[in-house]
Amino acid sequence: MLFKQQAWLRQKLLVLGSLAVGSLLYLVARVGSLDRLQPICPIEGRFGARSQAEFPLRALQFKRGLLHEFRKGNASKDQVRLHDLVQQLPKAIIIGVRKGGTRALLEMLNLHPAVVKASQEIHFFDNDENYAKGIEWYRKKMPFSYPQQITIEKSPAYFITEEVPERIYKMNSSIKLLIIVREPTTRAISDYTQVLEGKERKNKTYYKFEKLAIDPNTCEVNTKYKAVRTSIYTKHLERWLKYFPIEQFHIVDGDRLITEPLPELQLVEKFLNLPPRISQYNLYFNATRGFYCLRFNIIFNKCLAGSKGRIHPEVDPSVVTKLRKFFHPFNQKFYQITGRTLNWP
Ligand code: A3P
Repeated sequence: MLFKQQAWLRQKLLVLGSLAVGSLLYLVARVGSLDRLQPICPIEGRFGARSQAEFPLRALQFKRGLLHEFRKGNASKDQVRLHDLVQQLPKAIIIGVRKGGTRALLEMLNLHPAVVKASQEIHFFDNDENYAKGIEWYRKKMPFSYPQQITIEKSPAYFITEEVPERIYKMNSSIKLLIIVREPTTRAISDYTQVLEGKERKNKTYYKFEKLAIDPNTCEVNTKYKAVRTSIYTKHLERWLKYFPIEQFHIVDGDRLITEPLPELQLVEKFLNLPPRISQYNLYFNATRGFYCLRFNIIFNKCLAGSKGRIHPEVDPSVVTKLRKFFHPFNQKFYQITGRTLNWP
């Protein structure tokens, strides 16, 4: 009798245990990814997607997992055919600006279930050798995606390279172009810091920022210095405007992306006609890094590499003031052209 009761109790406990584990797994899936998968369908009108009925959420969740594997470059020809994967030319490109926060922007947009990022900078349009390989070469560099997703790549050198606007126009005259900018003097110092770090790694010495940014003969801002020239955003944008109307550009405030990323990302979602799916859940502040990091689901999160968010060297305040004064009129023109005022000093 006692033995029978014990067996009955064990069976009950087993059933209850399975129920608890099942519920927990359901919650993990729901909080972690199902919510993020929903949005693929609402953008179908824009990007020619399939109907929601053809992509039940659970199937999509499974497919996202597979896609993650394929992104590592493991997709065989059979898998590509079986899962209907494609390598698509980008529908949007982050064209710059170097040190504006281009990597953070790309990674954060990749949180959106309808977006697939090209992980590497492809440098197709700014590098003559690559460009000569043709558009199929470029397409083959793109990650695998489902047809209803959009591919985004970033190569910050595009913004400042003479030939690029015409070349991109020839590929797709209606492409969407994202430019992420930071306060020009801060960006120039960040640019300098990256080069300095490269020199130090090779045990080389390098000039101080002040020496490069200010012409010692005239004591004026040295416009031959690349880090200064890159920060004259309006000059570069004007070249692009010979090919694309201003409506095809969206300006991202890189300084705000650092401190308050969500509203900036929501503006990009709107610009790309994507349903708003990136939420505060996907972004958490990491006090050790001093930056926002990315949360894809309850299990998977990541911060950007340590090379993003370097400590800048101290720069003589009079040089900072001089540079800010120099950039001021260019900034005003930039606000005027783009319709986005950024209140830089
Ligand atoms: P600093 O290194 O000057 O701080 P890019 O990717 O275009 O090279 O830009 C690098 C910049 O991205 C960094 O410049 C950093 O400030 C900025 N950034 C913005 N959001 C970030 C994030 N969440 N994590 C790390 N860096 C971020």
